[in-house]
Amino acid sequence: MITRRKFLGQTGLLAAGAALSKQATAATASSLNASTLTPWVDPLPLLPQAKSTGLRPHPENPAIKIPYYRLAMREMLVKLHRDLPPTRVWGYANSFPGPTFDTRSGEALLVEWANELPGKHFLPIDHTLHGAEESKPEVRAVVHLHGGRTPAESDGYPESWFVPGKSATCFYPNHQEAAMLFYHDHTMGINRLNIYAGLQGLFIVRDAVEDALNLPSGKYEIPLLIFDRMLRTDGSLEYPTSGNPKSPWVPEVFGDAILVNGKLAPYLEVEARKYRFRLMNGANGRFFRFSFGDLYEFQQIGSDQGLLSAPIPLKHLVLAPGERGDVLFDFSPYAGKTLLLKSDSFELLQFRVAAAPVNNNAGLPQVLRPVTRIPESQAVKTRRLTLDENMDLVQQSMGMLLNNTPWHMPVTEKPVIHTTEIWELVNLTEDSHPIHIHLVRFQILDRRRFNVFEYQKSQTLKFFAAAVPPSPSDAGWKDIVRVDPGMVVRIIIPFEGYTGRYVWHCHLLEHEDNEMMRPFEVVAS
Ligand code: C2O
Ligand code: CU
Ligand code: CU
Repeated sequence: MITRRKFLGQTGLLAAGAALSKQATAATASSLNASTLTPWVDPLPLLPQAKSTGLRPHPENPAIKIPYYRLAMREMLVKLHRDLPPTRVWGYANSFPGPTFDTRSGEALLVEWANELPGKHFLPIDHTLHGAEESKPEVRAVVHLHGGRTPAESDGYPESWFVPGKSATCFYPNHQEAAMLFYHDHTMGINRLNIYAGLQGLFIVRDAVEDALNLPSGKYEIPLLIFDRMLRTDGSLEYPTSGNPKSPWVPEVFGDAILVNGKLAPYLEVEARKYRFRLMNGANGRFFRFSFGDLYEFQQIGSDQGLLSAPIPLKHLVLAPGERGDVLFDFSPYAGKTLLLKSDSFELLQFRVAAAPVNNNAGLPQVLRPVTRIPESQAVKTRRLTLDENMDLVQQSMGMLLNNTPWHMPVTEKPVIHTTEIWELVNLTEDSHPIHIHLVRFQILDRRRFNVFEYQKSQTLKFFAAAVPPSPSDAGWKDIVRVDPGMVVRIIIPFEGYTGRYVWHCHLLEHEDNEMMRPFEVVAS
């Protein structure tokens, strides 16, 4: 199995954490080797659309009525592959992954998230993790709209969880540019398990700028939510454990069964024309390096927070957990052939291109949406924030922290609304961490290699090399930034939207659940 470290071309990065933590439980006898299943026997599921069930008063202006949705979280059985018995998962609105919201910028909506899950969790809770103590109910849920500019009360604060039988209604104003966001569970101490069980789905925001580009749409625009799982031969989901029943947490999870919209190795019949694929990495820990077979060029037109300034021709696109990529692929040269969507050696999805040529290949716009670079001089403050490893004495394993500060400590980051800050993320660990900040969108300024030992000794940054600007793929508006080991990554963040308490964290879900998350507070002044 290829690990993300290997394909990112980083050697010697086996995390000290992995080495120090107790060996992850060896695969049990009933573990499934996913490569033994026949590929390309199931059609790719197209995710259903979330449907509103009526109108309700706008929370800030009751004279206006806005669409109201109610999505219940439930346990369900799904077929991940033709030859597998049904798998127990958790979904929203009877869909795994959840249904896709198709919304317009500036058009607010209300979503009631209802917890109708059973009273028992089916994945191994670690009660030694902060927020998941024995005293807490086993099944809890709270939903966050990732990438949404959402008022704090509706943002899904990790401690605002609710139990089966309860629900929470969230208000999404949608005052933001076209982008593909996603919603997912964010419950303190168990969000890695709730998401692994299936609690995530896509949320598309559209606007007039995007409409004017005439991109492939309707059945030619296909969202692909992709994540890996470990399965057993009886079809059930396997979540690895440390081997210690008192603290089963493991630092990272990788599976060999890679599901595309909830199916293993599906196929899609396409016409010989341009398609738009909206890719989302929904894995707990795996980085994907997508390609349409290594030789084929595609165009990236968008990233986390929407359109890039211009299309970028690429052969591979790396997406860390939580990152999104918006790409165009032209099948017209391949009429009558089959192609594969791959991630390194993994073959994820087969395209069967129709034999008939299509007469619809409107050219690609050369300008998408200008992304104005924010001048550094606009920042009123620079914060240096470290990503740290620490030895967890309870677990006898390596845990990770942000700025050496556990979750429960008082808030230290209090940006002022309508100001811009630079955050310097200094990675002192041996792992690559995708760092996500709620509420905001930001730009990557640069990445720079530095001397970690020197920093640990004297807290000073000694650089090994010049600062490197973001790659074109990374130069648009982002809400997640990959911070590789031994790197300082600087991002520039306009704090717009709302005041209140939010969180920032590593989007490797095992890290996030074990203290690699901190609150921050946007303050009025
Ligand atoms: Cu994707 Cu805090 O979230
Ligand atoms: Cu988020
Ligand atoms: Cu991490």
